[in-house]
Amino acid sequence: MEKVILGGKEILVRKLVAKDIARAKDHLAYFDALLDEDLYISTNKRMVLKEEKSYLKDMLALQKKGKCVYLVSEYDGKVISHVEARLKEDKSRHIAVLGFAIAAGFRHIGLGGRLWEILLSLCQTDLSPKPRIIEAGIFVGNIASLGLAKKFGFRQVARLPNQFIQKGQLIDEIIVQLYL
Ligand SMILES: CC(C)(COP(=O)(O)OP(=O)(O)OC[C@H]1O[C@@H](n2cnc3c(N)ncnc32)[C@H](O)[C@@H]1OP(=O)(O)O)[C@@H](O)C(=O)NCCC(=O)NCCS
Repeated sequence: MEKVILGGKEILVRKLVAKDIARAKDHLAYFDALLDEDLYISTNKRMVLKEEKSYLKDMLALQKKGKCVYLVSEYDGKVISHVEARLKEDKSRHIAVLGFAIAAGFRHIGLGGRLWEILLSLCQTDLSPKPRIIEAGIFVGNIASLGLAKKFGFRQVARLPNQFIQKGQLIDEIIVQLYL
């Protein structure tokens, strides 16, 4: 879909496609490496290959229905990032929620910013109904994510106390929103 050159690396950014299900092992390796780092991300569930395939199938089905945009980045044939915007349902269907991560070695070279640019643009064209609000929930200490959100004009709308437990500590969640 798009090649970006950042930090001297040529990175391919594309939407999730059916062939990703056959490549679920690559996606699993990427997620496992993120979990190994114990980052400020909300999940700590390690999936087995069957679960990863089923997750990717679900994402693909949602994307086909216009309920999700899921971008995969690859470097040298390896999955190095995913960013997604997923519409909520029913009376909250005007809100799209972001999920995003980049593998170690590819952060702080501008990739997050470039991916958000592409994702936010696709939210306007690919999601149905078109969202009125884009939202993200971010750990209070996640400086890079909060910086990224600020850069794109998101506003903090709430701080939910003690939403996560990480390394035995309770951590607040910051909810940021962008009105389209
Ligand atoms: C959060 C993450 C996606 C950001 O992506 P990135 O590629 O590292 O960010 P970029 O290099 O594109 O930086 C984009 C902007 O974010 C902000 N930013 C990034 N790193 C920052 C830092 N350490 N401190 C403050 N602001 C920072 C800056 O505003 C920056 O823009 P600028 O370089 O023009 O000033 C990435 O660091 C990551 O995957 N982290 C681990 C997983 C994670 O935290 N996921 C999010 C869960 S909510």
